[in-house]
Amino acid sequence: MCGIVGYLGDRQAFDILIKGLHRLEYRGYDSAGVALVNDDGNLNVYKTKGKVKNLEEYCKDKNISGTVGIAHTRWATHGEPNDKNAHPHYSQSKNLAIIHNGIIENYLSLKTFLINKGYEFKSETDTEVVVQLIEYVMQEQKCDLYKAVHQALSQVVGAYAIGVVERNNPNLLIAARKASPLIVGVGENEYFLASDASPIIEYTNKVIYLNDEEVVKIERNQEIEIRNLKSVKLQPTIKELSLNLDDIEKGGFDHFMLKEIFEQPKSLALCMNGRLNKELNEIKLSAITDYYEKFEKCKRIVITACGTSWHAGLIGKYLFESLCRIPVEVEVASEFRYRNPVILPDDILIAISQSGETADTLAAMELAKKQGAFVFGICNVVGSSVARMTDTGVYTHAGPEIGVASTKAFTTQVAVLVMTALAVAKKLNTITEEDYHRIVKELSVIETKIEEILKQVDTIKDISKIFTYAKNFIYLGRGFNYPVAMEGALKLKEISYIHAEGYPAAEMKHGPIALIDEEMPIVVVAPHYAMYQKILSNVQEVKARKGRIIAIVSQGDEDIKKNADYTIEIPSTEECLSPLLTVIPLQLLSYYIAVAKGRDVDQPRNLAKSVTVE
Ligand code: AGP
Ligand code: GLU
Repeated sequence: MCGIVGYLGDRQAFDILIKGLHRLEYRGYDSAGVALVNDDGNLNVYKTKGKVKNLEEYCKDKNISGTVGIAHTRWATHGEPNDKNAHPHYSQSKNLAIIHNGIIENYLSLKTFLINKGYEFKSETDTEVVVQLIEYVMQEQKCDLYKAVHQALSQVVGAYAIGVVERNNPNLLIAARKASPLIVGVGENEYFLASDASPIIEYTNKVIYLNDEEVVKIERNQEIEIRNLKSVKLQPTIKELSLNLDDIEKGGFDHFMLKEIFEQPKSLALCMNGRLNKELNEIKLSAITDYYEKFEKCKRIVITACGTSWHAGLIGKYLFESLCRIPVEVEVASEFRYRNPVILPDDILIAISQSGETADTLAAMELAKKQGAFVFGICNVVGSSVARMTDTGVYTHAGPEIGVASTKAFTTQVAVLVMTALAVAKKLNTITEEDYHRIVKELSVIETKIEEILKQVDTIKDISKIFTYAKNFIYLGRGFNYPVAMEGALKLKEISYIHAEGYPAAEMKHGPIALIDEEMPIVVVAPHYAMYQKILSNVQEVKARKGRIIAIVSQGDEDIKKNADYTIEIPSTEECLSPLLTVIPLQLLSYYIAVAKGRDVDQPRNLAKSVTVE
C-alpha cells in the first residue's frame, strides 16, 4: 500500500519526487504530498487529497525548492482520505516531517501517552504518532534524529517503511523499514529512496534492499550508514537492477492494463526461457532440482495466496493433483494464517504473489516455515520479501506489472505452476513419457495461441459495449476453468465496479440460477474437453431461463454456439494449459467494459496494487 519516494543529492528534489510518485501511484492514490528542506533549512510540506496530478496542480504556483525531500502517495488505512490525513505529517514543533507505508498497530496507546505529554494531533492517522514519538525521544534524550528513530521504532508494533527529514538539516534523510518494502538507490553524489525500483531506475541501477528493522542514515557527501534497531552497524549490500525504463511506461497503449494483456506472449516466453527446452521438450527448473525428495516425501501441498494469485493457486491444485497425484489444499492467506492450521513436517507450502509483498501471504509463509514446512515461492518482483523468505522459489519474470488488475502476472504464475507440476510428475513417474512430452510441446507454443486470441480484440470490444448496462454478471466454468471463471469475475468487479460471481457451472443450479433473467449476462468458459457435454447442459439451463450467454469456446465449436448469444473462440490446447488461453478474452472483456463505462482502469477506486497491510 502506498508509495514512498525520497531524494538527497545535488539536484532539485521536487521534480524527481513528483515523477517518482507518478510511477508509484499504482500502489495507492487517495492523497499525495511532498516535504522538502530548502537550502535555508526551512522544512515545507505540500499535500492534498486525490491523485498526484492534484498535488502538481496545488504546487503549480508555489516557489518550491530543496535538494532533499520525501514524498508519498497514500492508500488510507487510518483516517479518511483528505488533506489532513495526507502524508507527510509534521511533528508538533514542525521540525520533522514523516512519510509512512504500513500500519502502526499500537498507535492508540502511543497516542494516549503522547497526548498526556502535551502533544496535539492534527490527523487521524497512525503515522502521525510515529513522528511525534520521534520528536519526543529527541527532546527527552537530547539525541539526534538517527538515534531517536531507532528508539522510537523500538516501541512501535506493526509494519512500516518510513522516511523522515528535519528542519535546519538539508543534508540528512533517515529511513527505516519493517514488513513494508523500501529500497535505497545509490547514484553519483545522490541517493534515492523508494517503495520499489520504478522511481529510481532512470537515475541509477545500484540499489540496497533494506531488511526488516533496519534504519538508514543518508547524509550529503557521506557513505550511507545502516544500523538495526539494536544499533548494530551493518554492511550495506549493493545490488544491480535489471529493470528497463520501457518496462514501466505505457508504450503507446491507453492503459498499463491493456499493455500488460498484450504483453502476455512475451512475458510467457520470458517466463519459460531457459526452463523449457523446445528441442528436447523438457522442463528444467533449477529451483527444484535439489529438492525433488521434498516432493517425493510430502503427503500434501498447501498453496496460499490472495486475489488473482489465489486463483492461480486453485489451478495449481488441479495441476498437482492430476499430474503428480499429490493432494493439494488451497487457501487464501488471510484465513490460513489465523486459523491455527495443521501443518505437517513434510508439507510443502507454495506461496504465490506477484508483488512478493502481500502482508497476509508473507505471514502465512512465516507461520508454515516456523512449523517446519518447506516453503516454495512463486513471485514476480525480484528481491521482494517473498523471494527472500522462501526455501526455494521460481520467479515468474513477467516484467513489472503496473495496472492494478493483475493479468500477465496470473498467466505467468500458471505457467510456473504447470512447469513445476510437470517436472515433479516426471520425477515421481506419475506421468507417462508421452503425455509429458506432448504437454511440454503444447506449452512451448502457447504464446502463439495467445497471439491468435489477441487478434480478436475488436470482436471482444464490440461485445463489451453491449454489456455496459449490466449490474451483475455470472461467470461459469468447470475443472481447470472454474478458477478462470472466478478470475474473470474478479477482473470485472475490480475495474468496472459491476458485481460479478464466478461459479462452478454445475453448482449454479444450487442457488445462483435464481438470479437469471433476460437481463443477466452469463459468461461461460466452455472449451471442448472431458466436461464439455456437462457444461453444454449448464448452458442450456441458462438459456431456458433467458440469460444472455457469452461463451468462450474451442475453435470449431458447434453446439454451444447454437445456444450462446456471443462466442469467442480459443485455439485447441491441452486441457491443463487451457486457463492460459481462456483467461485472455475475459481480461479483454472486463477491460473494454470498464473503458466503455469511463472507469479509471489502471487505478480503480479503493484498490491498491500491493496490499502490504492486513
Ligand atoms: C488482482 O487483480 C488484484 N488486484 C489482487 O487481487 C492481487 O492479485 C492480490 O492483492 C494479490 O497480490 P500479490 O499477487 O501481489 O500477492
Ligand atoms: N497507515 C497509514 C495511513 O493510513 C499509511 C497507509 C499507507 O500505507 O498508505 O495513512
